[in-house]
Amino acid sequence: MKKYYIKTFGCQMNVYDSHRMAKMLEELGFVEAGDIKDADVVVFNTCHIREKAAEKVFSDLGRAYLIKQERQAQGKNTIIGVTGCVVQAEDNQILKRAPYVDFALGPLRYFRIKEVIEGLMNKKEVKILDTEFSAVSKFDFLPENKAQGGCSYLAIQEGCNNFCTYCVVPYTRGVEVSRSIKEVIDEAKRLVATGSVEINLLGQNVNSYHGEDESGKERNLAYLLNKIAEIDGLERIRYTTSYPADVDDDLIECHRNLSKLMPYLHLPIQSGSDSVLKKMNRRHNRDDYLRVVDKLKNANPEIGMSSDFIVGFPGETDEDFKMTLDVVNRVKYIQAFSFKYSRRAGTPAAVMDNQIEEKVKKERLQILQDLLFDYQNKFNVNSIGKVMPVLFETKGRHKGQLVGRTPYMQNVHAQADNSLLNKIVEVKIIDASTNSLEGEVI
Ligand code: SAH
Ligand code: SF4
Ligand code: F3S
Repeated sequence: MKKYYIKTFGCQMNVYDSHRMAKMLEELGFVEAGDIKDADVVVFNTCHIREKAAEKVFSDLGRAYLIKQERQAQGKNTIIGVTGCVVQAEDNQILKRAPYVDFALGPLRYFRIKEVIEGLMNKKEVKILDTEFSAVSKFDFLPENKAQGGCSYLAIQEGCNNFCTYCVVPYTRGVEVSRSIKEVIDEAKRLVATGSVEINLLGQNVNSYHGEDESGKERNLAYLLNKIAEIDGLERIRYTTSYPADVDDDLIECHRNLSKLMPYLHLPIQSGSDSVLKKMNRRHNRDDYLRVVDKLKNANPEIGMSSDFIVGFPGETDEDFKMTLDVVNRVKYIQAFSFKYSRRAGTPAAVMDNQIEEKVKKERLQILQDLLFDYQNKFNVNSIGKVMPVLFETKGRHKGQLVGRTPYMQNVHAQADNSLLNKIVEVKIIDASTNSLEGEVI
């Protein structure tokens, strides 16, 4: 039996894409390898968002090459492939830096993986690089999707037109494309029919969704959420990642009216300073953002907010940074992701004046994370004693343990029978730390 091994870097869209690639390889008769050393096909699905993420790929590729050589000595062939955003950004540089790579497919081209692998196996092809920015939607070529477990990702939109000055995504994923309402609903129904009780709708800029309905009329995310909420057997809906300026009143009403929509929203502000936001080319200022958060909290007082932050953007002063801390103190995020600004070649911010020293970035990140973790920890500790519905998604590290999520995306560990996997179960929270909760099934 031929085996595949896929390693995924980056965002949830990459997780979704990797899952689709795995299914296509399974259609070719491959099974998943537990260990990279046993794999006949190795795929790295890569992320280009920050320098560290992108560089890690090349060290992983180097290791894969050593394994390929070891296997060759045993008479076994190994196909090494790279997909995702690094491929789009590096293009033919990939094959120069890692000449042993057999195929490289951009994030909009991985739907070709079956024919590519077949071509390489039959020796009809020796090397494939495809980074075309096609006008066609890759979704038209992907096979029908099945549940990834109790919770599934569903890509409804891809690409981004926002061009934040620090970000590579518009260059790696291209312009915004929305899938049609019917396509999304059909996929959602299939995910539920094959075992999902939760669906997480994905897009780089998910709330600018504008897919067509069957009469050709463009519909917004709120319309889609209402349609998806009608699916019997589906219990939880989430969507990510949202752009603050595109949160419209219809969407806010969904948080008031749709009980299936989870009370948690990832809404990245990036910085609390208006001057930094302007240089970032974000279409919101600090007040706009806080107003949206207020409206959301008004619609659903239970809602917990999350965000991404960048510290040390070019020109960021101590005062600017303090404004970011101030936003954190106002919104009291229950979870957040924060990063040091990373200079990305080809983006406008990379050549801006007043790049910030690494030492300062490091200090600011530490201060910000201490504050964020403090709020996250408080929220988690406050959960102790509460009974919460938890969707168990994976087995835990310890025997007899399952790991799941509360409506607020908190990780929960509990002793639970495997039969509860992929089910929503009432769990009493008995302990908490910054990153996870411990519970007892009741
Ligand atoms: N589309 C989403 C997120 C895309 S990337 C959005 O607009 O929010 C995920 C996060 O990575 C971003 O929110 C940002 O905080 C961070 N990021 C993007 N480019 C970066 C860079 N050059 N340096 C540091 N962090 C970056
Ligand atoms: Fe990048 Fe900005 Fe688009 Fe998000 S909205 S993907 S940060 S360009
Ligand atoms: Fe990374 Fe591409 Fe996602 S750069 S964050 S994998 S869209």
